Amino acid sequence: MHLTVYTSVYSGVDENFSADVKDIVQTAKYLNPKSDICGVLIIHGHQFLQILEGEEVELNGLMDKITKDPRHSSVDILINQSVEIRSFTDWNMDILDLNNSEELDSETLKRITHIYKENFSLNGKVLAKFYEEMCKSLEDLRLLK
Ligand SMILES: Cc1cc2nc3c(=O)[nH]c(=O)nc-3n(C[C@H](O)[C@H](O)[C@H](O)COP(=O)(O)O)c2cc1C
Repeated sequence: MHLTVYTSVYSGVDENFSADVKDIVQTAKYLNPKSDICGVLIIHGHQFLQILEGEEVELNGLMDKITKDPRHSSVDILINQSVEIRSFTDWNMDILDLNNSEELDSETLKRITHIYKENFSLNGKVLAKFYEEMCKSLEDLRLLK
């Protein structure tokens, strides 16, 4: 089993964002099960973070397509390695919308990923929860300032 995590930035115009995301998720929900790929698409402002789990060959094939997709740019792979077990058995590319703030840049997401990898064994679902909790904490800290 293989796990790929990347960040990217939406590159379309604001008005099309919701429609594009809807289309991406619809396609993912239709195609991913055919290749036995699971995961979650995390959205924060216009930043994407996608966690994908599946067999390595299938994931590489999908990443080839995703990297070339003109709807986003700056695809930055944070994790691309094998994992012992599949963690997403029931998540067929759901969206996790963290909020509409634009402040969570890819450097922050990289740091969060680094903290996770230093402290926990790799598990896509736990990682998704970790991003969610870290982002909430960052928001709370900002409110305290
Ligand atoms: C941020 C983002 C995430 C995407 N995630 C997936 C995905 O999980 N599965 C998928 O099949 N396509 C996903 N796509 C869409 C692919 O890039 C591609 O358009 C789609 O797989 C159809 O490709 P095809 O017509 O060549 O089969 C994503 C696109 C973007 C921009």
